[in-house]
Amino acid sequence: MRVQYVRSLSVSDRVSSSQFVGRQRELELIWNQYEAARSGSARIVLMVGELGIGKTRLLDEVATRTMQEGAIVLRGGASESEGMPPYLPFLEALGRYIRTTPLNELHKQISVVPQALASILPELAVRLGQLPVSYPSPPEQARLRLYEAVGTFLKAISAPQVLVLTIDDLQWADAASLDLLCYIVRQQSHAKLLVLSTCREGELGQNSVLDRAVNELTRQRVLTTIPVNPLSAEETEVLATSYLGGPLRACIKRPKKPMYLIAMKRLVEPFRTRTPLVLARISFEQMKN
Ligand SMILES: Nc1ncnc2c1ncn2[C@@H]1O[C@H](COP(=O)(O)OP(=O)(O)O)[C@@H](O)[C@H]1O
Ligand SMILES: [Mg+2]
Repeated sequence: MRVQYVRSLSVSDRVSSSQFVGRQRELELIWNQYEAARSGSARIVLMVGELGIGKTRLLDEVATRTMQEGAIVLRGGASESEGMPPYLPFLEALGRYIRTTPLNELHKQISVVPQALASILPELAVRLGQLPVSYPSPPEQARLRLYEAVGTFLKAISAPQVLVLTIDDLQWADAASLDLLCYIVRQQSHAKLLVLSTCREGELGQNSVLDRAVNELTRQRVLTTIPVNPLSAEETEVLATSYLGGPLRACIKRPKKPMYLIAMKRLVEPFRTRTPLVLARISFEQMKN
C-alpha cells in the first residue's frame, strides 16, 4: 500500500517531501536570531532569493526546528491575488491561533484589548462571546489601538515560549501589514518574537512599500537579511538523488528512460513545478558537456 502511494506522488510532491539538503550557513545565521529572540529581543529575518531557489523550504525547515525546540509557530503569508484583505498575514496567523487555543488561555491573552482585535478578527467574538463595547474613534486612533492590540496579543502569546511568526512572500504584503510589522517590533522590542519572512529577489529596490519597511526595520537594528543562493554542486547531487533515484549525471546519461525524461522536463520548467532553479541549471550544464 505504502509503496503504491509513494509511486503515485508527482515529481514536485517528491521534491517537497524529499530530505532537506544543505543551507548550513543560512541555518546558523537564522539560529543566531532565534537565540536573540529567545533571550527577549524581537528579531526579523528576511530570506531573499529568486523564485524556486528554496526560500519557502528553508523557512519551513527553520519553523519545524524551532517548534521542536519548544517555540510556538504561527504561519501567515502574503498573496498576490487581488481583493485580499489588509493585514492578511496577521489574519491568517492569528485567526488559526484563536480557533485552536484553549478558551481560558485566550481569555487571559486578550484581556487587555479584546475589542480592537475583534474589529479585524471576528473569530474572537465567536469564541469568547460578547466583548465589551468600544466607542468610535477617528481612523488614525483606531489604527493605533489596533496596532497596540496586536502587539500586546503577540507579546502575551510569546510570554511562556518563543513565538515564531512566519510571513512567506513578504513582497506581496500590503502597506498596512508592513506598517504593523514595524510597529510591533518597535513597541514590543523585548518580546520573545522571531519573524521569519521571505522575499523574491529583485523586489528590494523596486517595491517602494517594502523598501520603506525594510529601511525602517534596518534603522531599528532588528532586521537580518539572508541571501538564499544556489545549492552547491554536491548538495544538488544529494537533492537529485533523493528524488530522481540516482545521481544527476547518471540520469542525464540515460535520457531514453521515460522516467528520467519526464523528471528532467519538469526540472527545467521551474514556473510550473517550482523545482530549485539551480538543479535545472546544473542539468543544462551537464547536458552541454
Ligand atoms: N534545501 C532544500 N532541500 C530539499 N528540497 C528543497 C530545498 N530547497 C528547495 N527545495 C525544494 O525545491 C522546491 C522549490 O523550493 P521553494 O522553497 O518552494 O522555492 P521558493 O520559495 O524560493 O520559490 C520545493 O519543492 C522545495 O521542497
Ligand atoms: Mg516560496
